[in-house]
Amino acid sequence: MNLVIKMAYKITSRSEKDTVELAQNIESEKFPNMVICLIGDLGSGKTVFTKGFASSLGIEEAITSPTFNIIKEYTTGEMDLYHMDVYRLDGKVEELGIEEYYKKDGVVIIEWADMIKDYLPEDRLEIKIRISEDSEDVRIITITPYGREYEELCEAVL
Ligand SMILES: Nc1ncnc2c1ncn2[C@@H]1O[C@H](COP(=O)(O)OP(=O)(O)OP(=O)(O)O)[C@@H](O)[C@H]1O
Ligand SMILES: [Mg+2]
Repeated sequence: MNLVIKMAYKITSRSEKDTVELAQNIESEKFPNMVICLIGDLGSGKTVFTKGFASSLGIEEAITSPTFNIIKEYTTGEMDLYHMDVYRLDGKVEELGIEEYYKKDGVVIIEWADMIKDYLPEDRLEIKIRISEDSEDVRIITITPYGREYEELCEAVL
């Protein structure tokens, strides 16, 4: 077995604002075809993170949860943003043609990315958000970069 130990960054967010700031920091090192995988329970803050990222991109439209449409495209920012929520995809990943979005020169953010594991790109930023048992507003966030570009991004902003 080929055992690879991945570097992961652990961050504590104590408020919605902390999570927004984290997203804005990551946005500051964006690059075309970047893929961010958000993993965490209902209400953990995946959409909050996406809103922070979008505002930093200069997107003024309201970011709404794409649970029923699966994908929403925002094209008015510095870079296009493809926001996906695959919670209700029910295995219809092939129909979505998700791989196409990885090469449109925008940023892809996927909520519930763990539900489509086999369709994620090899290189990506994985962000796991866990709701703390101790306090309602605390989130334990674990960020793992896969691939050199994402490792450099983490070194730059985390
Ligand atoms: N530290 C925190 N970071 C992010 N959100 C927080 C934090 N503390 C409290 N919250 C609240 O938690 C909620 C997170 O909601 P959000 O819609 O972002 O969750 P989600 O992970 O996208 O859920 P879903 O799986 O339903 O899409 C918001 O109401 C937000 O105000
Ligand atoms: Mg959400």
